[in-house]
Amino acid sequence: MLKVGIDIGGTKIAGGVVDAEGRILEKLRVETPTDTRALTVAVIDMVRHLAASHDIAAVGVAAAGFVDKARAVIIHAPNIAWRDEPLKAELEAGIDQPVTIDNDANAAGWAEFRFGAGRHVDDMVMLTMGTGVGGAVINDGRLYRGGHGIAGELGHIRFLRDGLPCGCGQNGCLEQYASGRALQREANEIADHAGLGDALAAVRTEKGKISGPAVSRLVLAGDPGAIEALRRVATALGEACGGFQAVLDPELFVIGGGVAELGADLLDPVRLAYETSLPGYGDRPVAQFAIAELGNDAGLIGAADLAVPAGGE
Ligand code: BGC
Ligand code: NA
Ligand code: ZN
Repeated sequence: MLKVGIDIGGTKIAGGVVDAEGRILEKLRVETPTDTRALTVAVIDMVRHLAASHDIAAVGVAAAGFVDKARAVIIHAPNIAWRDEPLKAELEAGIDQPVTIDNDANAAGWAEFRFGAGRHVDDMVMLTMGTGVGGAVINDGRLYRGGHGIAGELGHIRFLRDGLPCGCGQNGCLEQYASGRALQREANEIADHAGLGDALAAVRTEKGKISGPAVSRLVLAGDPGAIEALRRVATALGEACGGFQAVLDPELFVIGGGVAELGADLLDPVRLAYETSLPGYGDRPVAQFAIAELGNDAGLIGAADLAVPAGGE
């Protein structure tokens, strides 16, 4: 059975035709329109294109927000202008197949569990480090959705009291300390301090600002300022993982999103912070850490796999 999966990201919308083994047969990408109406139209166009040359049973859409239990409405989105957005109904008005909406990190986590880094475990936590911090909890082989559909918002646990304001309306959320954006902020802060920040300051002078990819390039080149910026966000994430372990006791943490492209440079300090904040460390089983295997495709593959065809699964 073939399905279409769509991943609505902050900068790009990615869509693909996906088979039952998680393989992508055809793929498309467009820029994400800022206007939410234009965004809906762009998704409809993309689905129509993909469905024109394949026999599609269902459409799954991954979106960066709190999706209700009926998997139809985006209740709230910290970084997109969606409030009570009936996305399923809006899309089905222009698409012949049934549409299922899922949280983007839940979709990515599900894809990693089914076809990627988590395929050998039953209990897994996924964290995505991009514009925001996304989370997914796989509990005993099932995606944990909670009482209202919005469990697994791991980026919005309070990490610091009286901390930075967050798009969710709270302050001090993990997302403000462990996202790709947080990495950029830390890099800019370090650039202001002579000594560690010389290379970062040079990038800022040349380009006007320090982008995420620029920080990554400097990390890979061994620059101490960029490495310090990464250590700070990795430490925040790892400390939070110690807490997630206390609640969920996963066998594996899978880390995805743009920052995860740094691989071991990211995972080493994450693991260290995890160990130093894990209750009972030394006496208890610990989780493994892995970088996501499906990269940018995880969201659309997971969305397709989670999509429900007419008449049910
Ligand atoms: C949102 C999540 C989303 C994550 C990654 C967070 O700010 O609350 O719903 O999964 O960003 O996009
Ligand atoms: Na989630
Ligand atoms: Zn928040």
